Amino acid sequence: MAMRNVVLEGDPILRKVCRPVDEITPRILTLLDDMAETMYYENRGIGIAAPQVGVLRRVFVVDVGDEHGKLEFINPEITYTEGSQIYCEGCLSVPGKNADVERPAKIRVKALNRNGEEFELEAEGLLAVCICHENDHLNGILFTDKAVDGKIIVEE
Ligand code: NI
Repeated sequence: MAMRNVVLEGDPILRKVCRPVDEITPRILTLLDDMAETMYYENRGIGIAAPQVGVLRRVFVVDVGDEHGKLEFINPEITYTEGSQIYCEGCLSVPGKNADVERPAKIRVKALNRNGEEFELEAEGLLAVCICHENDHLNGILFTDKAVDGKIIVEE
């Protein structure tokens, strides 16, 4: 495993739409491992998407510190949403900024795991927030785009 550099806001890579993974190669597995290592290393990282390490593939990893532990998503698709919640978000690619963002309260997501098996997961609370945030990265969307009332808090 190796750390990867985190792409920061302002880099056009973060605005691209990522391509699906068509084959889970050793390279994709290394990417997943490296993304997790990078996420755990970075302060308070609870999720990371492939474009944040410069790879335009539909892959993300989350670990919000709940009973699920680390979750890996390949070609994820949010298939159901319900309700709404507001959470103050941050992002490894947008250091020093936070904003309240409105997300679904509950979601269902399906994806492939690293063995190429499809799985489906229901999530609520912070895990739902995190999955929606990471999924947005795959479509070139940053949390700051969705700040409630456009209000972004900048740390001094
Ligand atoms: Ni992010």
